[in-house]
Amino acid sequence: MIHQSGITGIGVTDHAYVELDVKAGTDAARAVGKLAAAINLPSTAGANVVVGIRPGLWADVADAEHVPAGVHDFDEPIRGRDGYDMPATQHDAWLWVASSSRSQAFDVEHHIIGEIRDVFDVADETVGWVYEMNRDLTGFEDGTENPGALEAPGVIAVPAGQPGAGASVLLYQLWRHRTRDWEGLDDDAQQDVIGRTKIDSVELDDDVKPESSHVARTVVEVDGEELEVFRRNTSYGEMLDHGTVFVGFSHDQWRLEEMLRRMAGADGGPRDRLTEFTDALTGAWYVCPSVEGLLAVAEPFLDGED
Ligand code: HEM
Repeated sequence: MIHQSGITGIGVTDHAYVELDVKAGTDAARAVGKLAAAINLPSTAGANVVVGIRPGLWADVADAEHVPAGVHDFDEPIRGRDGYDMPATQHDAWLWVASSSRSQAFDVEHHIIGEIRDVFDVADETVGWVYEMNRDLTGFEDGTENPGALEAPGVIAVPAGQPGAGASVLLYQLWRHRTRDWEGLDDDAQQDVIGRTKIDSVELDDDVKPESSHVARTVVEVDGEELEVFRRNTSYGEMLDHGTVFVGFSHDQWRLEEMLRRMAGADGGPRDRLTEFTDALTGAWYVCPSVEGLLAVAEPFLDGED
């Protein structure tokens, strides 16, 4: 089974994300089938397109062989220390269009939304862009610890032979940055928050890296082994409101959720200091089905059938 190639399709600068809800009174299987059919675009469209479906909805409409085991919706906030929480804002589906041209991304997004207009409402939309090729708006490199191109498919996709093989679990969150507070820190203090150096993204030594640093909080180990995820974050916004679009993939939901719990201090450890300078505005889980899983539900709609 093959993962959706846009997940690992790097090198694109212009991103559009849309969260969708099935229209009231619409058959959910028809809606998901039409969405899957709408992304079966020719290569001349000039954009990578990835779709995700709310885990509970995908389990309802897909054959069991395409459904990863035990994946749940973002039903409740992630509750951390001292009243801190990250909101749950789950929608039914997620669409990501990525291109090396803003107008191309817009046109492809516009086309797809036109195809599904009668079955989905657009609940939320965000334009993502690439800051300095590989940095987020803290000014730090983002993605340093991502697996390499040959390893990434194994990190994101459920292994062959398991239910949902080739599918990936996505954590999608918008994080608004408190830029003025962040810029009130000097470089050394910012490095203590992230746990890496600012210019070249070298991890701080264990004896100086604060336990509350972002890197220390997001490293999840099981039996001494560090559990990897694949992040495709971009930046969003302008002067009044800007931040990070967190787009993180894994074949295993638990590790991503454990990272969130650790960031919130829900594991009994310190809260991630990055959460003092960024606020989670949204939070949702999606299953990004394998190509075969999408084809199976798209099939009745591929010839423009309604
Ligand atoms: C405002 C939101 C966020 C920003 C600006 C941010 C930024 C960063 C930066 C600058 C790094 C260090 C370089 C790197 O390895 O990429 C990093 C590492 C990492 N982040 Fe985030 N991050 C955010 C949210 C999250 C969330 C929500 C998660 C997981 C649920 C996460 C998981 C990770 C992981 C796993 C690493 C690598 C840790 C390591 O192995 O060293 N991040 N992030």
